[in-house]
Amino acid sequence: MRNNIVFIGFMGSGKTSVGRLVAQRLGFQFVDTDAVVVERAGMQISEIFARHGEPWFRDHETSALSSLSILNRSVISTGGGIVLRPQNRALLQELGFVVWLTASEDVIFERVSRNKKRPLLQTADPRRTVHELLEQRHDLYQGTAQFTVNSTELSHEAAAEAVIAKA
Ligand code: S3P
Repeated sequence: MRNNIVFIGFMGSGKTSVGRLVAQRLGFQFVDTDAVVVERAGMQISEIFARHGEPWFRDHETSALSSLSILNRSVISTGGGIVLRPQNRALLQELGFVVWLTASEDVIFERVSRNKKRPLLQTADPRRTVHELLEQRHDLYQGTAQFTVNSTELSHEAAAEAVIAKA
């Protein structure tokens, strides 16, 4: 297995913040699949969804993930929906040690509400959307990850330490 740490989890679970900390502490490179998609497309995620729709985004997300297979000594943070495709789940596991970063539904909702830009949450009832998406994805996160950190009552630093201790 490759010497990488891969973060999966719902929007607002802290993948990017905790991932950056883990990378800093281990002296690893930090890569974010959303950032790869944005850079390649030359558009923000919200613009990609508005102009091209979710399937287009998902295709580019899979291609971004595939492009990371050459990495070593890296921390990879991923978009919350990356586990939806079986092909992605296999790629994630090949990449390295997969960590599911999770938090209670209330905490997740509170965190995603601070940033109104997430296209999948532009619905009449975002609280309900979060609930439904979490329900749909729970088993996919659980089945893909080798280790789970629940950050509901943890600082980003403590969550990072828990990952480093296990990796
Ligand atoms: C998505 C999560 C987002 C981004 C896109 C779709 C999802 O990433 O990939 O808006 O399907 O949950 P974050 O989890 O980094 O917010």
